[in-house]
Amino acid sequence: IKAQSEIKIQVEEDAPIISKHIYGHFSEHLGRCIYDGFYVGENSDIPNKDGVRTDIIEALKAIEIPNLRWPGGCFADTYHWKDGIGPKKERPTIVNQWWGGVTEDNSFGTHDFLNLCEALGAEPYLAANVGSGTVKEFTDWIQYVNHDGESPMAKLRRENGREKPWGVKYWGVGNEMWGCGGNMTPEHYANLYRQYATFMSSWSNDKGIYRIASGANVDDYHWTEVLMRDIPKHLIEGVALHSYSVIDWNNKSSATDFSEEEYFLTMKEALKMDELVTKHTAIMDKYDPDRKIDLVVDEWGGWYDVEEGTNPGFLYQQNTMRDAMIAGATLNIFNNHSERVKMANLAQTVNVLQAVILTNEKKMLLTPTYYVMKMYTVHHDAQLLPISFESPKYKVDGKSLPAISASASKDSNNTVHVSLVNIDAHKTNTVTVNMNGLNIKNVSATILSSEKLQDHNTFEEPNKVQSKEFKDFKLKKGMLSVDLPPFSVVVIEGK
Ligand code: AHR
Repeated sequence: IKAQSEIKIQVEEDAPIISKHIYGHFSEHLGRCIYDGFYVGENSDIPNKDGVRTDIIEALKAIEIPNLRWPGGCFADTYHWKDGIGPKKERPTIVNQWWGGVTEDNSFGTHDFLNLCEALGAEPYLAANVGSGTVKEFTDWIQYVNHDGESPMAKLRRENGREKPWGVKYWGVGNEMWGCGGNMTPEHYANLYRQYATFMSSWSNDKGIYRIASGANVDDYHWTEVLMRDIPKHLIEGVALHSYSVIDWNNKSSATDFSEEEYFLTMKEALKMDELVTKHTAIMDKYDPDRKIDLVVDEWGGWYDVEEGTNPGFLYQQNTMRDAMIAGATLNIFNNHSERVKMANLAQTVNVLQAVILTNEKKMLLTPTYYVMKMYTVHHDAQLLPISFESPKYKVDGKSLPAISASASKDSNNTVHVSLVNIDAHKTNTVTVNMNGLNIKNVSATILSSEKLQDHNTFEEPNKVQSKEFKDFKLKKGMLSVDLPPFSVVVIEGK
């Protein structure tokens, strides 16, 4: 069964640039994300650079990872960075109170993380401790990583073997301050934020300093309203937002063994991101009509029950074609809102929640979400091409969702890319992309699709789901007709 819908592309000179930082990632001290994920230690027989797996570094470089958030998450407001510097053997331990109650030896600390970011060519985004820390601890961290002259913290950094500062621009002022960050009211946090932000010097770091206020939980619009109202503009560059695609927090259901109804409900949650971003943006517009302050969605993704037999506090879940649908549709939403959304972080990079990479001892696999990230690299720092279209419906049991999600951009070589997601579990949907006026002569495309929605890569069969060349389209008189298979992501390139 085929349905037809036409995507019209507008070329607007002043359309926003899709910041590459929308394609950011998040790595928390949680389960097997850092320890036994990224970090295996210098003495591991798994190939590593300073203890970090080289296969992970290479895989993340291939998706041009623009930034990486660390060390949490909820962990951030328990973390004391000075425990993670200096000789590894002398470091105190920390009990990870939010995630499994495990004792960590602090062997992965500031130097390890920032050197990893250098190896990745990614901007570090440090989420600092406000909930159980102090202004001094916070500002010392900034001085430690950013001060180039004579100062107590620069001296300490040099004693620990690093001469030049790393130059960290992105700083989170606490995390989920309405919850694990301290159960604060927005009024209390806004005041605290003002205090912390006042002392956050960039130390002449040539990238400047970018301060991100801990943002709302999903549709807590009051939180955003209070932060925007009470924080003076010269103290803030970004306001965060967290939203996960969860069917029911008390019954999240299996990551791999799910029904079509569960798929539908997950996608309903994922597509809500459009409404969330629209409404939080409207509040921000009220206080900041010139759009000086960015919306930073620094936690998003699918969240299911953990895999059987794994620690419930470790949030280890598999990743199927459903996750590819979440990723494709959410990234399209961020692209289309790139006037305000300048940064986002998928939770979490390795072995936790909607991971792009899973590891099992020596083995590593790339998830369907990884391939979406890879296909969408073409949008990094490209100019948005606003689009309009009527989507056909995806119907399940009398309920419906828009079946098609799309976004488009033009890069610095004038190459046009259109990313299309058909979330319908059964129907091939044919879309027509009106490319008139874009001067397109050649079209090529890539697709991510599979036989079953539940398909995923395993350590036994790591390449079951992967992107490949796609040819099911026709270009005639500037009209590109594309047959999108059920639950597929397609990226079209036109030059
Ligand atoms: O990503 C897992 C957790 O989800 C983070 O630690 C927290 O910020 C959020 O609630």
